[in-house]
Amino acid sequence: MTKKRIGILTSGGDCAGLNAAIRAVVHRSDLLGWETVGIIDGTAGLLRDPPEYRILTPNEFDGNIMRMGGTILGTTNKGNPFAFPMADGSVKDLSGRIVEGFKALNVDAVIGIGGDGSFAILKKLAQKGGINLVGIPKTIDNDIGMTESSIGFDTAVSVATEALDRLQPTAASHDRVMILEVMGRDAGHIAVSAGISGGADVILIPEIPYSVEHISAKIKQVKDSGRNFALIVVSEAVKTPKGEKIELTYSDGEKRYGGIGHYLSQRIAESTGSETRVTVLGHVQRGSSPTYNDRLLASAFGVKAVDLIKEGKFGRMVAWSNRQVIDVAIEDAIAAYQEVDLNGTLVQTARALGISFGD
Ligand code: F6P
Repeated sequence: MTKKRIGILTSGGDCAGLNAAIRAVVHRSDLLGWETVGIIDGTAGLLRDPPEYRILTPNEFDGNIMRMGGTILGTTNKGNPFAFPMADGSVKDLSGRIVEGFKALNVDAVIGIGGDGSFAILKKLAQKGGINLVGIPKTIDNDIGMTESSIGFDTAVSVATEALDRLQPTAASHDRVMILEVMGRDAGHIAVSAGISGGADVILIPEIPYSVEHISAKIKQVKDSGRNFALIVVSEAVKTPKGEKIELTYSDGEKRYGGIGHYLSQRIAESTGSETRVTVLGHVQRGSSPTYNDRLLASAFGVKAVDLIKEGKFGRMVAWSNRQVIDVAIEDAIAAYQEVDLNGTLVQTARALGISFGD
């Protein structure tokens, strides 16, 4: 086997477990006698002159790095290089510069850790520049197809479940309806998993249309049963009953979901006469030390990604299936975007437990 030099980058929104995946790649690559180049800030680092990267060595990747949230390489979830927003408001195709950046690193292959949006871009760049690409799926949203789990989801669900654990006693103390708004663009996986685990009475997800009347009826039922509080989990991507998105626009012009919890709080208070409070969990779901599950997944994915390069299998994404790590075509994973399965076990379990989806 000839000595290889491989690149690695993290792309899209960060999540817990990225450092564990980078660590696994560096150690596996080193055991094969290869060199690993860490690209800084995802593809944004390749637009810099010179491209920003650093050599990653196993001695800086002890177990501690695995406990750290975030990504030591930095990442970006803005600016599609094929239509890059310029300072003057115009849009430019900078993909050629990124391909040049990849070439300047002189690597045999690149491992991209990203979500479906990042993979779509990386795949196009790989095609344009003849780059050997392998993908590792990560996203707290868990919406990438062809894999049962993506890095970061388990930690995000744990954080959201803990939030419900903390909301329950204060809800009970004050006779309140507590609304927890969780992330998920545009699928309700976090809401469903945390809602069941945290004992929610109502779970609202973008995949299931709801009405305020049905939510109110569930709260009335809870109160009639003698319980003085209720817990509602709502996914940020849930629309108003009329189908309007609720978004916030940030100073850089970027729009993000946010506000459906407050929107519903007012309507539920009016409709039920209950006192309501809202917690928007936001980036707290992305930022903690990864759960053991995310560390395991990231470790298995990192090792498999390097082994795919060893076998010369490119255009592949590592995936979790049936207790094992496998590999699938990146394009198939992108095409099979994974919403919440309305006939799947978790939705059926929630319904069987009497949890309302507001429908
Ligand atoms: O896709 C991951 C995610 O965390 C979504 O759940 C959320 O809507 C979005 O990213 C937030 O993006 P940003 O970090 O740009 O605010």
